[in-house]
Amino acid sequence: MEINSLFNVTGKVVVVTGGSRGIGEMITAGFLANGAKVYISARKAPPLMEKAKELSERYNAECIAIPCDLSTLEGMDYFTQQITEKENGIDFLINNAGAAWGEPLEDFSETGWDKVMDLNVKSIFFLTQKLKSLLKTNATIDDPSRVINIGSIDGLNVPAFETYSYSTSKAAVHHLTRVLANKLVKEDILVNAIAPGPYPSAMLGSAVNSDYSFIAEANPRKRVGTPEDIAGLAIFLCSRAGAYTVGETITSDGGLVKTAGHKLG
Ligand SMILES: NC(=O)c1ccc[n+]([C@@H]2O[C@H](COP(=O)([O-])OP(=O)(O)OC[C@H]3O[C@@H](n4cnc5c(N)ncnc54)[C@H](OP(=O)(O)O)[C@@H]3O)[C@@H](O)[C@H]2O)c1
Repeated sequence: MEINSLFNVTGKVVVVTGGSRGIGEMITAGFLANGAKVYISARKAPPLMEKAKELSERYNAECIAIPCDLSTLEGMDYFTQQITEKENGIDFLINNAGAAWGEPLEDFSETGWDKVMDLNVKSIFFLTQKLKSLLKTNATIDDPSRVINIGSIDGLNVPAFETYSYSTSKAAVHHLTRVLANKLVKEDILVNAIAPGPYPSAMLGSAVNSDYSFIAEANPRKRVGTPEDIAGLAIFLCSRAGAYTVGETITSDGGLVKTAGHKLG
């Protein structure tokens, strides 16, 4: 019952897609700071390599970069092959990489639909399929492997911006989470989702010119999310403490979804 056992992730092997910045970096830092080894991916190799080096040094832990485009099956195959060459099994898969697209309804492009759906939904499904046998290797009934899909409160609420494919994709992530949880719990792999509210990142920053002040003001907690908020929740879901939580979509949004009258997120 001690806290060190309940939330222990020491020695675990973690895969975080889109770990080079933003929410993926926050989650990666949380695992590294607590004794896990973390594989991170992104398309742009130089910032990814630089981030892996920086995080490894800061936390005196192993952060390994694998550059690839996870919106394609070729990219996912390459990523899977690279991890398989290095590990016999993995413990946690954090499907975090995501993209957004905003355009007025009248002009909304097929590119803006397909790009978002391919990365946010299709890649979560196929990457989980491809990494399943590595997750299974480390899974036991007492210590199941875990998959966390990063959804969004935009998949729960109607979004503030004209992000038709994004909000639809995130609702799909939440339901895919339940469908995969139903299948994989039988193999001791627990699947859950986190639906973040506003966290400072390139994605949210580009929508608000990196001025988070009005978003913070509109939030019931009067601030945006921090690395501790998201990393703490991810560690909970992956630890002994989260081993009876299955198929859930847990918000981390300062109360936006559960309080009336708040729209921004
Ligand atoms: N920030 C928020 O307020 C917020 C709120 C709700 C949900 N979310 C969700 O949280 C997740 C992370 O978002 P973020 O805000 O941290 O975004 P971000 O700062 O734009 O980071 C996205 C990460 O994904 C990587 N990525 C993008 N496309 C990729 C591809 N095709 N293949 C591999 N990696 C790719 C990016 O690196 P490269 O560009 O180098 O590929 C980067 O590492 C997303 O699923 C997002 O929808 C964020």
